[in-house]
Amino acid sequence: MKNIIAGIATLIVLGLMAFTASKGGAYHGGEHGKIIEDFGDTMGQAKKVEVPKEKSDRDKEMDALSALRDKAGSAGAFKVSQAYKSKCASCHGANGSGIQNGKPMMGPKLFGQSEAVIYKDLVEFKAGRKENIIMKGLLMSLEDKDFKELAKEIGEFPARAEALNK
Ligand code: HEC
Repeated sequence: MKNIIAGIATLIVLGLMAFTASKGGAYHGGEHGKIIEDFGDTMGQAKKVEVPKEKSDRDKEMDALSALRDKAGSAGAFKVSQAYKSKCASCHGANGSGIQNGKPMMGPKLFGQSEAVIYKDLVEFKAGRKENIIMKGLLMSLEDKDFKELAKEIGEFPARAEALNK
């Protein structure tokens, strides 16, 4: 008889535990925690709604980049100058994506930045107005003419990628 009572008591306790868990977890602050969570969700959604345009531009870029990655290795793929390949690709990626094997590289993405912006950045790095020891040291051996050529080339990356995708 004692065993039966103990068994029933255990079942009731387990049942209550399951019920509590299904209500959203006493461990996360119970009802109050749930309200805060809901609020957090709403905030998250509001933020998401704010930036649809940026997202679609980004998506387009990512599409172009992944298409590029698919073609990487094939003989006619995305050509870059020897200068870019030897001086910039190691940190910014062979196609300027700043990503290698799915991981961010040391340098940020250059792909998609305009010739004018790249050129300005390079000049500012060299002059020390834009602070970055790595880039500054690297650019000491390059001249304005090199900056113009590199900026022009990098500015053309998206067009080159598109041409490949045709
Ligand atoms: C040793 C690694 C390394 C190499 C090689 C390198 N970079 Fe960078 N580059 C960086 C890092 C790190 C930054 C980020 C600097 C920052 O914003 O603080 C950067 C930033 C830049 C930026 C600014 C981008 C942005 O969005 O702010 C440009 C433009 C750039 N690099 C162009 C070049 C070019 C062109 C070359 C080849 C001549 C080159 N880099 C070679 C590491 C490198």
